[in-house]
Amino acid sequence: MRMWNFFSSRGVFRTYLTNLVRDGLLPLLLIPGLLLGESTLRQAETASMTSANCKISEKSCRVWKHDAHHRINCRPGSIPAATIRPGVVWKDTDGNPINAHGGGVLHHQGVYYWYGMVLEGRTYVPACNASWGGTRVVANGVSCYRSVDLIHWQNLGIVLSAVPDQPDHDLHCDKVIERPKVIYHAKNRKFVMWMHVDSIDYKAAKSGVAIADSPAGPFQYLGSFRSNVGIWPTNVTDSDKKDRILARDFVGGQMARDMTLFVDDDGKAYQFYASEENTTMHVSLLSDDYLKPAGKFARVFVNRSMEAPAVFKRGGKYYLIASDCTGWKPNAARSAVADHPFGPWKELGNPCVGDASEITFDAQGTHIFRVPGKMDAFVFMADRWKQWNLADSRYVWLPMQFDAQGKPVIRWRDEWSPGLKNP
Ligand code: DGJ
Repeated sequence: MRMWNFFSSRGVFRTYLTNLVRDGLLPLLLIPGLLLGESTLRQAETASMTSANCKISEKSCRVWKHDAHHRINCRPGSIPAATIRPGVVWKDTDGNPINAHGGGVLHHQGVYYWYGMVLEGRTYVPACNASWGGTRVVANGVSCYRSVDLIHWQNLGIVLSAVPDQPDHDLHCDKVIERPKVIYHAKNRKFVMWMHVDSIDYKAAKSGVAIADSPAGPFQYLGSFRSNVGIWPTNVTDSDKKDRILARDFVGGQMARDMTLFVDDDGKAYQFYASEENTTMHVSLLSDDYLKPAGKFARVFVNRSMEAPAVFKRGGKYYLIASDCTGWKPNAARSAVADHPFGPWKELGNPCVGDASEITFDAQGTHIFRVPGKMDAFVFMADRWKQWNLADSRYVWLPMQFDAQGKPVIRWRDEWSPGLKNP
């Protein structure tokens, strides 16, 4: 507690109710008839926005160029706040809402870089995703912001652009680009971005990789792949080898959806990703240059259906916080500890405490990072998704604490500050 300047905590439940009112959801909860009306509206929207092969019109794509002064969101705003206020619209230093969702933070030479997916434009649900509420906006690429105090963020623009003129390209706006994470390869002096790239129906389930000479990009896209073709996991059993999905993808490569990267103290990097149709997570060691899997991986959290992994190391142990699989809807976070990234992992339960802890404070984790120079200061980054208005999704950043056994604990704060100086 000493290391962080916490501000008032007036209760997440009130915030939650306020949000329901603000989003216009309270009347919908109170009047079931209106719910029916909204679902009819959604079906109509589905029908008009999709065709039989689940593609959308290219006319809805926008061309984004790498431009340090490009404004990715033109809504005018007031001056940014002096604290982190989870769930409240977070404005950049130009007064525009920060647009960097499902992302992560890289600390490099005293500067924090926040990368995330750009959610902009109309939310719609393609017919192929209607059964599970898989709303989307057209893929717009990956944005980047910079900060020295974790509160004031300067927009550096789009660092990995969508590719609107090539329908088969992974970064075409009809595709899915999610959860970008950037790590630094010190020896090669390269910034390496991994992300989940997918087809509109999420069936491709691949990892995409891009590289840059500067943290501010531009990133050059290198391509995508399914992981570990023809390789069994290090902890495979004879019965695993008969597993319908694991054995199926042994041939063409294992699926990878929600993902994160973790760099260990020895410079080894790992990708954690939801695999096997999201039922089981895989942990893949990356090659020495961080550009591909090294061919060594483990199955972890078998049949636990976990998404949104975030990993950190503390006191020589590895910790993971992830979610259940409920689409854009929030659920209870899970935490786990291990002595090695490959496991075995021991689950520690929900790290969130207090009101709305069973729905991760109406959010889903995306990344955890340590604040260098501060003892035990870790930040839990999460997204408050707005399923039917994705562009209005918010950020829930909270400081992490640890109980006497070292178990991560996350409590709601209306407002807090990491206490870093902004020279
Ligand atoms: C849940 C995942 O955690 C998100 O990254 C995203 O893929 C949504 N599902 C899509 O509905």
